[in-house]
Amino acid sequence: MHKTKATLRVALAVFLGAATLTATAGAQPAPVPPARHPAGASSAGERDWWKNAVIYEIYPRSFQDSNGDGIGDLNGITARLDYLKKLGIDAIWLTPCYPSPQVDFGYDISDYKNIDPKYGTLADFDRLVAEAGKRHIRILMDMVMNHSSDQHPWFLQSRSSRANPYRDWYMWRDGKGETATDKGAPPNNWESLFGHSAWQWDAATRQYYYHRFYIQQPDLNWNNPKVHDAFKEIISSWLKRGVAGFRFDAVTALYEDPSLADEEILKDKDGKPLINAYGDPVLNDSKTDNLPGVHAVMQEMRAHADSFSSAAFPGTRVLIGETYLPNVAELAKMYGPPNKPEFHLPMDTQVAFINKLNVAALRAKLNDVETKIGDNTPLLLFDNHDNPRVQARYGDGVHDTDIQRALAAVLFLSRGSAQFYYGDEIGMMTTPPTRKEDVKDPIGITGWPNEKGRDGERTPMQWDASANAGFSKAKPWLPVPPSASAINVAAESRDPDSLLAWYENVIRLKKTIPAFERGRNTMLDTKNDKVLSWMRKDPGSPPVVVAVNFTADPQTVRLSVPGFNGKLKTLLKTPGAADPSTLEQIQLGPFGVYVGKILQR
Ligand code: NOJ
Repeated sequence: MHKTKATLRVALAVFLGAATLTATAGAQPAPVPPARHPAGASSAGERDWWKNAVIYEIYPRSFQDSNGDGIGDLNGITARLDYLKKLGIDAIWLTPCYPSPQVDFGYDISDYKNIDPKYGTLADFDRLVAEAGKRHIRILMDMVMNHSSDQHPWFLQSRSSRANPYRDWYMWRDGKGETATDKGAPPNNWESLFGHSAWQWDAATRQYYYHRFYIQQPDLNWNNPKVHDAFKEIISSWLKRGVAGFRFDAVTALYEDPSLADEEILKDKDGKPLINAYGDPVLNDSKTDNLPGVHAVMQEMRAHADSFSSAAFPGTRVLIGETYLPNVAELAKMYGPPNKPEFHLPMDTQVAFINKLNVAALRAKLNDVETKIGDNTPLLLFDNHDNPRVQARYGDGVHDTDIQRALAAVLFLSRGSAQFYYGDEIGMMTTPPTRKEDVKDPIGITGWPNEKGRDGERTPMQWDASANAGFSKAKPWLPVPPSASAINVAAESRDPDSLLAWYENVIRLKKTIPAFERGRNTMLDTKNDKVLSWMRKDPGSPPVVVAVNFTADPQTVRLSVPGFNGKLKTLLKTPGAADPSTLEQIQLGPFGVYVGKILQR
């Protein structure tokens, strides 16, 4: 979640009321070492798997329903592992599947050590980890540390009285001007990212609590050491079950300025306050986002996760960050100093949300992560469950498949790890609800019609052209879009020129060509504002070049790489394109892609 035009999701928070607290079994698992991967426990391959990884995000509710209730589940994911293996992924990032009242569809957690019965059981989870491991696929969990559900036993205790030992696990503050009969005003002007004041009055204990997201997601107090210990224990419990790491949700929101000073209201060029989709002033977030304390927490969590690498638990446990940040300098900090590492892979939202096909901007942002994050590994992405899909943000309505091929080339053939969202590989489209009464995501209900919520990018995975797209035998929790009749796995598996086939091909190149596995990125033809070209070069193997036309007109590029004679061997190209004979004459159709190996002199 981030305050840019394209990604801002603000709305009135809706109090959904009687959310049920799911049973908390809390049984401690017997330690299960993760399945061995082919590279072997002690090899560099096993240790460094995350440096050239392909990470696939699954929204469990929407991927595959196995028990006919219209909601996806863990056994459904297990049933589709062979598809994912063929696609070539290394890891699945599972968005939260812990017990939850589901106000924010799992990001409101009421038991961090269990699985929501809607998605299955701990035994189903263990089977998913084991079956994925057999296919050399790792499982990454979502770790939501900024807030819990208001139905979590910690918060139920916390709100029960001011003297309760859990009171200080959350952010309770007095209102301004409170009297015996009046609750006064909230402590300051801070806002929830989901709309309106971030402070919720609690009549029973006569204080406000802080929530960066929904009212039902009270923020935990990271100044309390007990909160740190609780999360380390939660992390341990999942590592013992064999998970390969975590994606840390909303980490930049962990701390708030203790002064509780108001945030500045942003103004337009005429000096008028900027107003968001819900009628609230837009604040500069200086007191609530990306405060320095987050670094010490991540150093602590990283040291904790690193301590799990052992003979019994081989392989690096990888920490991924949801890091919406304003620039590469802030992103660089998220890797931590060399002696106190933080994230292995903080998400690069700079590249992801350029949201226009602008070659100069893409080149600049890709150069940033090549030159300004030290020896660290970039984590590139273009999509996730909080934003309109790639097609909606980058498509032109005419060349959508070609544009998605072009972006996939950037994603998988640049240096670093690549993350994508279920359905991107077939070109799934964002299909927002057309009527307010159909909206499921609370921000879309309160923000209607300016903000339709995130349902549109969370529709069921499109497996085939049948009525429910092969997702479920029952009515799916969100409707299957009409586009599923053409855009589906079954149809695209039969077509060698499909987007799915392209994804399989670029991922194969990423994983098998040494220069793509390890080589540095060097931009070529850097004045060209229509075609993005780059070279990947690894000592001891031939360099490779990629040229991507980001316009609807044919283009010819003339590249030169000193020391090489310009002869090329094609590795991959847009369906139907001609083979260039030399680097000096690469012809590209509209949004065409060329990938070639440069032959030695
Ligand atoms: C970011 C998650 O990606 C989003 O889906 C969620 O609503 C917020 N964090 C709150 O947890």
